[in-house]
Amino acid sequence: MEKIKYGTYESTVERSRKLEEDLTKDPTRYRVLTGDRPTGRLHIGHLFGSLQNRVRLHKLGVFTFIVIADYQVLTDRDTFESISENIKQLTIDYLAAGIDPEDDKTFIFPHSHVPELNQLLLPFLTLVTMSELDRNPTVKEEIQAAGLVRINAGMYTYPVHQAADILFCKGNVVPVGKDQLPHLELTRVIARRFNERFASRKPVFPEPQPLLSKTPLILGLDGSQKMSKSRNNAILLCSSEDETASLIKKAKTDANRLITYDPENRPEVSNLLTLISLSTGRTPETIAEEIGDGGSGMLKKMLTESLNEYLRPLRKKRAELEQNTDYIRQVLEKGIAGARKIAVETLDEVLEVMNMKL
Ligand code: TRP
Repeated sequence: MEKIKYGTYESTVERSRKLEEDLTKDPTRYRVLTGDRPTGRLHIGHLFGSLQNRVRLHKLGVFTFIVIADYQVLTDRDTFESISENIKQLTIDYLAAGIDPEDDKTFIFPHSHVPELNQLLLPFLTLVTMSELDRNPTVKEEIQAAGLVRINAGMYTYPVHQAADILFCKGNVVPVGKDQLPHLELTRVIARRFNERFASRKPVFPEPQPLLSKTPLILGLDGSQKMSKSRNNAILLCSSEDETASLIKKAKTDANRLITYDPENRPEVSNLLTLISLSTGRTPETIAEEIGDGGSGMLKKMLTESLNEYLRPLRKKRAELEQNTDYIRQVLEKGIAGARKIAVETLDEVLEVMNMKL
């Protein structure tokens, strides 16, 4: 069996750049699939890092599938009480950020509701070895980060489930962050092995490509790690303007009054400048120059004002959608029905090539 090669990050960046060019030229050749776990509400790191990228692709007219990976929640935590509520809140965040579920090219659905997608997991599991699953670097990191002592088998196999999420609709573009690249490489290997083993004459699955976001990694307000709700360093899309102001007030900076953009040596200050830049469309260097020796007080004031202003329309829309639970349910039902139609077709093809049709 061929080995799973993760390749260099640089080569992935280069490939992703070419893909981006081609996508803009010929959007109809592509099917975008992305996903999130319903573990809580989205924050501005998600917005600038991945949501806006999705909205942009979506507006090019590309078929867009957004899978809400509810089964994945069970892999590393005990709580499941809020999954249903989180699915709805996630959907509200997507719509508020600009995903338009009214067109016929967009599907938002929890994978638990698409049985034919989940069934692909069974043949896929036979295409990978235990030791390959054991070596997945992202899974290892997650086990460490969650401090798991008893690791359930779902934790090792969810990347294979993720391959089913992507391949059920023959997704060929997956906008992801760096941490998801090993899963995508596994998906490509599964597609390749499936085609070689069962469908050598006419391949069933494409080999999906990763599309990396151009936005730099957004750090949390502590400036030392990725923004994340569980690390308590995030500004949520649903935070109020006052909450946003007080979160920014507590953000970590440094003692140098002269504000400069220097991500290497001044990660905290530079991260705040990046956020102003993303909210205003101006470069972080120009903003730094303008603040000059105004110190972190002025930096924070500027961020609070520009971010709140930038998020105002999104938050307004969000608040309206939150009142309209029937509509959110409808959006999900439509997404499930659409995804299911495609999953039924793919499973049929899969059973056919595996000689399991009666
Ligand atoms: N593993 C992803 C995460 O933790 C969520 C996810 C599930 C996903 N299925 C996917 C991402 C398919 C991209 C494609 O964020």
